[in-house]
Amino acid sequence: MKLLVTGGAGFIGSNFIRHWLRENPKDNVINLDLLTYAGNLENLSDVENRKNYLFIKGDICDTNLVHQICKGVDIIVNFAAESHVDRSIRSSEDFIRTNVEGTRVLLDAARKCNIKRFHHVSTDEVFGELGSKDPKFNETSPYYPRSPYSASKAASDHLVRSYFYTYKMPITISNCSNNYGPYQFPEKLIPLFVTNLLEGKKVPVYGKGQNIRDWIHVDDHNRGVEKIIKNGLIGETYCLGGGNEFTNLEVAKKILEYMTFTEDEIEFIKDRPGHDHRYAIDYSKAKKTLDWGPKIDFKKGLSETIEWYNTNPKWWKKIKSGEYQNYYKEQYG
Ligand code: NAD
Ligand code: DAU
Repeated sequence: MKLLVTGGAGFIGSNFIRHWLRENPKDNVINLDLLTYAGNLENLSDVENRKNYLFIKGDICDTNLVHQICKGVDIIVNFAAESHVDRSIRSSEDFIRTNVEGTRVLLDAARKCNIKRFHHVSTDEVFGELGSKDPKFNETSPYYPRSPYSASKAASDHLVRSYFYTYKMPITISNCSNNYGPYQFPEKLIPLFVTNLLEGKKVPVYGKGQNIRDWIHVDDHNRGVEKIIKNGLIGETYCLGGGNEFTNLEVAKKILEYMTFTEDEIEFIKDRPGHDHRYAIDYSKAKKTLDWGPKIDFKKGLSETIEWYNTNPKWWKKIKSGEYQNYYKEQYG
C-alpha cells in the first residue's frame, strides 16, 4: 500500500506515521506537510532515513502539487489542519484556508486519482458542548460547532461526507476526543502545564477549571484510525474516545501531584471565549464493529507522557524559544 499522510509532521500525524510503519513495515508512506508553526520534522527523526518514507514540504491547498503527489497513492489520511482553538479565536483565516479549502483540494485530487480510501481525521468539537449530565456524543449527534476551529472542522467533515454521497468516494471519518502523548506542541493543556512546571513557571487554568475533556492517548487514537482504514465501512463515521473524563482542574492537580508540586503553582486566568463546557465520546460503535477500544490507562499514560517531556527537554525547549523553526529552514526554505 502507498499512503499519503497529510500533516504528518504534527503531533498526531507523526505518531501515526511511526505507528503505521511499525505495524505495516512494507507500506510506503509519503508525508505532505507545510511545516507551519506546529510542524516539526524532529518528531520523525527516527523514521526519516527509511527507504519507504518520503517527506514533501508542501501545502494541501496547492492543487498542482497535491494532484501530482496523489498519482499512485492508495490511501490518503488527512491529519493536516490548524488545530488550536485559542489561535482560531485570535484569527480564523488559516483555519478556513487549510481545514476547509485544503480538504476540498485533497478530495478533488483523490477523486481524480481514484484513491481507494480517503480517511479524514476529525474532532469531537464539531458536536459542540455537553452539559454535565448530557449523554456522551456519538455518531448521530447533531453538529453544533461553537469556535472558529470546530466550525472549520465541521465544514470539512460535511465536505468529505458530501463526496461520498455525490461521487461515491470511498471515505471514512473519525471524530476523536482530546489526545495526549509525546510530541504534542506545548500550547495544548498537558504539554504546556508539564513544560511550564519544568521551567519553574505556573500553570494557567482558564476560568475555574471546571470544563471537562475526555482524554485519549495518541497511540490509542492512531490504532483506531488504522482499524477504520482497514476494516471501517465506506461512508461511515466512527467516534473514538478515551473514556477518561476529567475537569481541567483535576488534570492540573494530577500533573502537580506526579511532579511533586503543590497547588500554589496553579494560576486561575481569564476564561476562553465561548469555552465549551464538556466533551465526552461514546465509542460503542467502534467497539462493536471494529473491536476497538482505548487500552492505555490515563494515570499510566499521563505519567509516561510527563516522563517523556522530562527526558526530552531539547525537543520542547527549542519550540518554546522558537529555535525549532530555523531547524529545517535551510533545507526546505
Ligand atoms: P498539529 O497542529 O500538531 O499538527 C498539524 C500539522 O498539519 C502540522 O504538522 C502542520 O504543519 C500541518 N499543516 C497545517 N496546515 C497545513 C497545510 N496547509 N498543508 C500541509 N500541512 C499543514 O495537530 P494535531 O493535534 O496533530 O491534530 C491533527 C489532526 O487531528 C487535526 O486534523 C485535528 O483537527 C485532529 N484532532 C486533534 C485532536 C487533538 O487532541 N490534538 C483530537 C481530535 C482530532
Ligand atoms: O477535543 C478534541 C480537541 O482537543 C482537538 O480537536 C483540538 O485540536 C485540540 O487542541 C483539543 O482542543 P481543546 O481546546 O480541548 O484543547 P486545549 O489543550 O487547548 O485545552 C484543553 C482544555 O484546557 C480546555 O478546556 C481549555 C483548557 N486550558 C487550555 C490551555 C491551553 C486551560 O485551562 N489553560 C490553558 O493554558
